Amino acid sequence: MTTPELVRDPAAWQARALSDRAAGRALALVPTMGFLHDGHLSLLREARRRVGPGGVVLASIFVNPTQFGPNEDLAAYPRDLEGDLRRCAEAGVSRVLAPEPEAMFPAGHQTWVEVREVSQGLCGARRPGHFRGVATVVAKLFLLSQPHLAFFGEKDYQQLQVLRAMVRDLGFPVEIVGMPIVREPDGLARSSRNSYLSPEERTRALSLSRALFEAREAAAGGQRDAATLVALARAALEAGGVRPDYVELVHPETLRPVARAEPGSVLLLAGFAGKTRLIDNLRLP
Ligand code: PAJ
Repeated sequence: MTTPELVRDPAAWQARALSDRAAGRALALVPTMGFLHDGHLSLLREARRRVGPGGVVLASIFVNPTQFGPNEDLAAYPRDLEGDLRRCAEAGVSRVLAPEPEAMFPAGHQTWVEVREVSQGLCGARRPGHFRGVATVVAKLFLLSQPHLAFFGEKDYQQLQVLRAMVRDLGFPVEIVGMPIVREPDGLARSSRNSYLSPEERTRALSLSRALFEAREAAAGGQRDAATLVALARAALEAGGVRPDYVELVHPETLRPVARAEPGSVLLLAGFAGKTRLIDNLRLP
């Protein structure tokens, strides 16, 4: 277990990636905002598995200011670079990019990547500019890191679809690998933002996954009507003390609402446990 090399300068990072690529090594990238948990680790480990011992696993740790709204938690976002480097070492990461915001978005930055349709509903409707910030930083990370493979979690399901559309539309030579949601033993999806929760809010937050599991059971039992499934999930959120932000049943790729649950339809929800906004989703059987 060797500690991965920490790189602060994006230009130096890119030079290393270009020479690795020229040397014929396989490169995998896992973009993160740090405060790494088991969800991130599953991506990092799969990245190592896919490129093999001779490949290069790159992780970025960057709390991207451009994807936070003015009233969101940018300043409060949890950080622990030392702990993150330890976890990266355990997962077999080769190098970590942790740039300062000014290095990624220097004065004069004026180029943005906007993915239209799939960004519009769900989180995109509640967090204006969020996916523009995500797409732009990930496009930059792709150009800086030159990966053959890039790993993203289904936890952020809309983000994954936005990035798939970006890669397809702009022709990035990278394969996007989507990874299943890692949950706590009691069902709560792992998230860096779980660290905001008081013990009482942590109990409330369980109703996100419970709402999804209840809807899945109803769907498995033959309930196919979207409005009914959405109402059921919404009621489960409210009963558990979570204020719903949205609950929607959508097509897995377009993310447009569907009237009836088909195999593969995705139920997505967001809600507030106290002041903390959490998201979760589930693919229906
Ligand atoms: P962050 O929230 O740190 O997540 C980094 C990656 O880990 C994302 O692909 C996310 O979907 C995945 N992830 C988080 N929790 C997970 C879980 N419980 N199970 C599986 N995967 C999980 O998402 C971002 O950062 C940023 O938007 C980023 C893509 C880095 C751009 O700034």
